[in-house]
Amino acid sequence: MSKSLRAGQMMLARTVAAVVLLISLAACSAAIAAEPDKRLGLGRPATPEEIRAWDIDVRPDGMGLPEGKGNAAKGETVFAAKCAICHGDFAEGLDRWPSLAGGLDTLKTQDPVKTIGSYWPYLSTAYDYIYRAMPYGNAQSLKPNEVYSIIAYILLMNDIIQDDQFELSKTTFTSIRLPNEQNFIEDNRPDTPTLEDGDPCMKDCKPDVEVTMRARVLDVTPQGEDKEAAKGAIE
Ligand code: HEC
Repeated sequence: MSKSLRAGQMMLARTVAAVVLLISLAACSAAIAAEPDKRLGLGRPATPEEIRAWDIDVRPDGMGLPEGKGNAAKGETVFAAKCAICHGDFAEGLDRWPSLAGGLDTLKTQDPVKTIGSYWPYLSTAYDYIYRAMPYGNAQSLKPNEVYSIIAYILLMNDIIQDDQFELSKTTFTSIRLPNEQNFIEDNRPDTPTLEDGDPCMKDCKPDVEVTMRARVLDVTPQGEDKEAAKGAIE
């Protein structure tokens, strides 16, 4: 056996060994995926408290809502103390801060006013967003009873409820439907094909695409008249 043939065989044997090692490592890491990586000494499993702190989403069917209750009469006081400075006493919005009420029948106009009452499809988003993000600068500080009360107050300001004693709670929450819900429709268009799905070209396609010049070589900066026109546009 020639020297180079033997070297070649050894290389092959080593490659096979390396591939076998890689495959078994991959199998191992899949098996211990839930555990922190002991080899690197990084991380630890999340504690149940940490998972609870992250798990705050509220869904349209009411899933995720905490226990608690509130009405608009109570909400008015909390809103005045914690929200009105930006959103106005009646949730109408101050200066450039967003309004949370009104705007009904403006969606088709030049200047639509999108509020919880006029635009949002589900009330669950109000719970989710207000607890998650408000008051601005002190997010996730509100207690469930405060959030329920504030939302009842916002509903009153939007004329969606009329009774300031109506008790909004986990049980009554999904009885409230927002006026614009039916205008949110499922986007059932097929996904745009990607190259992996096959040829994305539909018609009049070039048989071959070739790169003829690079932008950094090709001078694409407008010259002469174009430059004057561009200047005029800015002035
Ligand atoms: C310091 C000013 C400030 C305070 C106080 C504040 N907000 Fe906001 N709020 C904002 C700003 C700014 C936004 C827009 C944030 C964005 O678009 O990222 C916003 C957005 C919102 C929205 C979403 C509006 C929309 O249609 O997009 C809601 C709902 C809301 N706030 C409720 C509240 C409630 C309830 C309180 C009181 C608990 C509160 N905010 C307190 C400034 C404030």
